[in-house]
Amino acid sequence: MKILVTGGAGFIGSAVVRHLLTNSLDSVINVDALTYAGNTESIPTELHSDRYIFEQVDICDAAQIKRVFNEHQPDAVMHLAAESHVDRSIDGPGAFIHTNVVGTYTLLDAAREYWQNLPETRKSQFIFHHISTDEVYGDLPHPDELPANSELPLFTETTPYAPSSPYSASKASSDHLVRSWQRTYGLPTVITNCSNNYGPYHFPEKLVPHVILNALAGKSLPVYGDGSQIRDWLFVEDHARALCLVVKSKRVGETFNIGGHNEKRNLDVVRTICELLDELAPNIELIILHNTQI
Ligand SMILES: NC(=O)c1ccc[n+]([C@@H]2O[C@H](COP(=O)([O-])OP(=O)(O)OC[C@H]3O[C@@H](n4cnc5c(N)ncnc54)[C@H](O)[C@@H]3O)[C@@H](O)[C@H]2O)c1
Repeated sequence: MKILVTGGAGFIGSAVVRHLLTNSLDSVINVDALTYAGNTESIPTELHSDRYIFEQVDICDAAQIKRVFNEHQPDAVMHLAAESHVDRSIDGPGAFIHTNVVGTYTLLDAAREYWQNLPETRKSQFIFHHISTDEVYGDLPHPDELPANSELPLFTETTPYAPSSPYSASKASSDHLVRSWQRTYGLPTVITNCSNNYGPYHFPEKLVPHVILNALAGKSLPVYGDGSQIRDWLFVEDHARALCLVVKSKRVGETFNIGGHNEKRNLDVVRTICELLDELAPNIELIILHNTQI
């Protein structure tokens, strides 16, 4: 397959590109605007070949996106380009609406026009895979809010949407746009909603790398509120494998939740990192600071 990956210079997108170039014979067209979160070095040069093309293009630029479709003739789209940091979305929601909502609309509309003009044999094989977050479902309940001895209820594909930040609201909007392009125009789409990822090339402002880097620099470790928020965690390369499985399974119109069944309170994630750092870098003093924004 020829796969157009948007956001392929970001944390998860680059894991998808590395996975495709290493474990398949697929070609990749990596479309990325290279915002502060994009880094071309996350695709090592030894993986560059005639199966890899990089296009520095903004997904909101309709003319450039149309050119990319016509020039490269992809069989599938894996759409990961987004503004992705919750705290940034609280400080400046405009960029999130622009990229996550307007950008997804621009990409969808270009994909629809391209797909409608494909010959029948290629048309029936095309798929638009939208990569989203489980944050569209809102927050997992605090254990104290649950009846005694009951298990933590997990999100399912039918959990009602209840986004709680400008980031998750913009991702929820993009999910709705993708579903509507399928229902209205018949564009073959599939959506995946994943929990928190961790792993190589994670941008330093996110919780796990931020805590590690602060600890190694001898700085205090920031924990938002009392650290009791619960999130599920998944290794980024496992997410990339799941995404590649989904794009090839061509289950048009489906939604798949992807997770690690690894629910942890933020404070416990920070404590686990501290335990590992005690082992790996025993001479640093670790101070956890509550009620800070990361
Ligand atoms: N990080 C997570 O834990 C997580 C979990 C579930 C789902 N997701 C979703 O996965 C996708 C990728 O997340 P990530 O953590 O890799 O994000 P990221 O912020 O690390 O990377 C985003 C990439 O998109 C690019 N980009 C941003 N705006 C663009 C635009 N207008 N045009 C073209 N490229 C643009 C950036 O340059 C960057 O390379 C996002 O859609 C996110 O919502 C992330």
